[in-house]
Amino acid sequence: MPRILITSALPYVNGIPHLGHLVGCLLPSDVYARYQRMLGNEVLYICGTDEHGTPSEVGAAKEQMSVEAYCDKYHNRHKEVYKKFNLSFDFFGRTSTPQNEEIVNHIFAQLDKNGFIEEKTIKQVFSIDDDRFLPDRYITGTCPYCGYDKARGDQCENCTKVLDPTELINPRSTISGSTNLQVRETKHLFLKLPLLEKELAQWVKTKEPYWPDVAYSIAQKWLKEGLQERCITRDLKWGFSVPKSGFEDKVFYVWFDAPIGYIGISKQWADENPAARDWRSWWLDAKDVYYVQFMGKDNVPFHSISFPATLLGTRENWTKVDYLKGMSYLTFEG
Ligand code: MF3
Ligand code: ZN
Repeated sequence: MPRILITSALPYVNGIPHLGHLVGCLLPSDVYARYQRMLGNEVLYICGTDEHGTPSEVGAAKEQMSVEAYCDKYHNRHKEVYKKFNLSFDFFGRTSTPQNEEIVNHIFAQLDKNGFIEEKTIKQVFSIDDDRFLPDRYITGTCPYCGYDKARGDQCENCTKVLDPTELINPRSTISGSTNLQVRETKHLFLKLPLLEKELAQWVKTKEPYWPDVAYSIAQKWLKEGLQERCITRDLKWGFSVPKSGFEDKVFYVWFDAPIGYIGISKQWADENPAARDWRSWWLDAKDVYYVQFMGKDNVPFHSISFPATLLGTRENWTKVDYLKGMSYLTFEG
């Protein structure tokens, strides 16, 4: 009998969960977990808060709290809400734990050893008034693809296109609103996705009969456009520091450590529950595990392309998604 591993996309810790989270991934994954348990299958159903990145720094600054205290507060709030909805997670964890850091560092070291990490000097937006670089959500502007005027530096929520902050039209600082911005050079680490493209395309192809159209077509669209090297480090204080010389003052990009968080949360679950099965039995060389992921459609590129490529590049046999459910958005008043 297969064991069923189920993950529901990890909600950003900042902000309160809304109906979209419930309809988009929490309820469907919960129903699926309950169904699998009724069939008598062994299930590990996990979720947790996604805590790194600019949204937490921005949110903590707004509430004049330390980022750690801010994350504790909102992690607990998420947990309470989901408890009230009687969601049947086996464990609700978080991405900012030592357990996750250990696995992130291990995966990074494997990628580096196998030649999939590259150092590059890039141009980044620097805000003179804020006296800092403005990665990702620290910068807001108009999407060059669809014209949405509140696109974030890392992704346009309207058309789902993944963006580089320097592409935004009429950019402004999310922190101060300042438009007194400069483009400056800084050194970062990149994941060499083009080297994994062929292998990844073969893997995605095997999913064609199984994945729903929404997920499969988004993955194919990315592969057709050709994969670019992805920057996996950021100039932030909050996050896992990068264990490589010359990069000590940078942290990993939240989208590097968040999906690895599924694994880190499983380790946290095992560490906190003595009766739990070894977390590795779910994630490494786990031949009898069937892995199902639930998420909103904006998450599909990360789960069908960058996360599986990250795992492939370790040259270790990590459990990769078997069935990927990407939900369209819940809309309100049209
Ligand atoms: N926090 C992300 C979002 O709400 C989802 C992260 S899913 C992860 O869009 F597993 F990759 F962390
Ligand atoms: Zn757009």
